Amino acid sequence: MIVAVDDMMTIGDFSSRCGLSPKVLRTYAEAGVLVPAVVDPTSGYRYYDLAQLEQADIVRVLRRAGVVLADIGSFLAEPSAEALDAWERSLTAETLSRREALAEVRCRLGVGSQRTRGATAIEVRTVRDLVELRAVFNLAGAQLPEPIDSGDHRIDDLVGRFAADQSLMVLANAEGSVVGGALAFRNDNGTVTLRIIGVTAAFRHRGIGRRLVERVEAEARRLGARSLALGTDDAVGFWYHLGYTPNLLFQWVYDADLYEAETDAMLSGPLTGLHFWRSSFNDIPQLFVELDEPRLDLHHHVRQAVTGCHVGFMMSKRFADRR
Ligand SMILES: CC(C)(COP(=O)(O)OP(=O)(O)OC[C@H]1O[C@@H](n2cnc3c(N)ncnc32)[C@H](O)[C@@H]1OP(=O)(O)O)[C@@H](O)C(=O)NCCC(=O)NCCS
Repeated sequence: MIVAVDDMMTIGDFSSRCGLSPKVLRTYAEAGVLVPAVVDPTSGYRYYDLAQLEQADIVRVLRRAGVVLADIGSFLAEPSAEALDAWERSLTAETLSRREALAEVRCRLGVGSQRTRGATAIEVRTVRDLVELRAVFNLAGAQLPEPIDSGDHRIDDLVGRFAADQSLMVLANAEGSVVGGALAFRNDNGTVTLRIIGVTAAFRHRGIGRRLVERVEAEARRLGARSLALGTDDAVGFWYHLGYTPNLLFQWVYDADLYEAETDAMLSGPLTGLHFWRSSFNDIPQLFVELDEPRLDLHHHVRQAVTGCHVGFMMSKRFADRR
């Protein structure tokens, strides 16, 4: 049989144009990737067409991203945003879990809490006493868009659990001053709640917030906690970036009588099709709605639509089971 190969390249030509060796090309073909457009049945010669040069380039870049050959084959057959999203998510998860492991080692050995960014040494350490606890609460509270101080009732849990959960309450020091803090405590059901976090404006974007969170997470794991959760309206991107899953949380704090009507309106309106569950806390009815990503648009929309409740984001991270 005669094969028309005029517009095609031999494996040698293709190899020198795409930069992949003939041996690599043969391995790829065996895995179903960059299969020669034509193989002469008589001579066994392999021929590639021009369009495969572009494909070879994509394969090279995907390999650089660490994607395994078997997955590349099916991706090239049917390129999809879902596959790219999934690879990106798994990369993020892998990086996060490595960083968490390093943070845990730092925490266990009590080293590495001294790291420099620019000229300033930042120390992250446990809050020492109740006086310092109030000072950190005041400092973090002052960073919120609607500032609070230690007169706020939300400090009560922290004070009440200080003796047992001191190690979950941490601060960041720079040049002898407190520049940030994160205060968390254990709940009776094996979860940890982060009550407040803040970094003073001049020290933001230097990794201090991340270090505070990683320190609390490492401690929470060491204490055997299942998960860490917090409510936020303002820093959703920060938490999502650190691997936290967003939920919308509706709490009927203003008018509990509107609970049924507003829940029905939401679930049959903007929240149709989303997974949700109902709950209550201190007799305040709540609705949790699961999201894949922080939907600020949806948050804004539903906030406009309800009057009886506060709507915020509940961010949480589940820890892998300890073996
Ligand atoms: C939220 C806050 C604590 C973050 O502290 P920070 O020290 O500036 O954060 P970091 O520098 O450690 O940022 C950690 C990572 O999150 C990212 N990040 C920070 N803020 C972010 C945001 N709003 N959206 C998306 N990503 C964000 C950073 O880019 C950084 O990424 P990298 O580590 O890959 O470089 C700080 O901005 C703050 O105090 N804000 C005001 C108080 C507040 O809103 N508290 C509510 C928190 S629930």
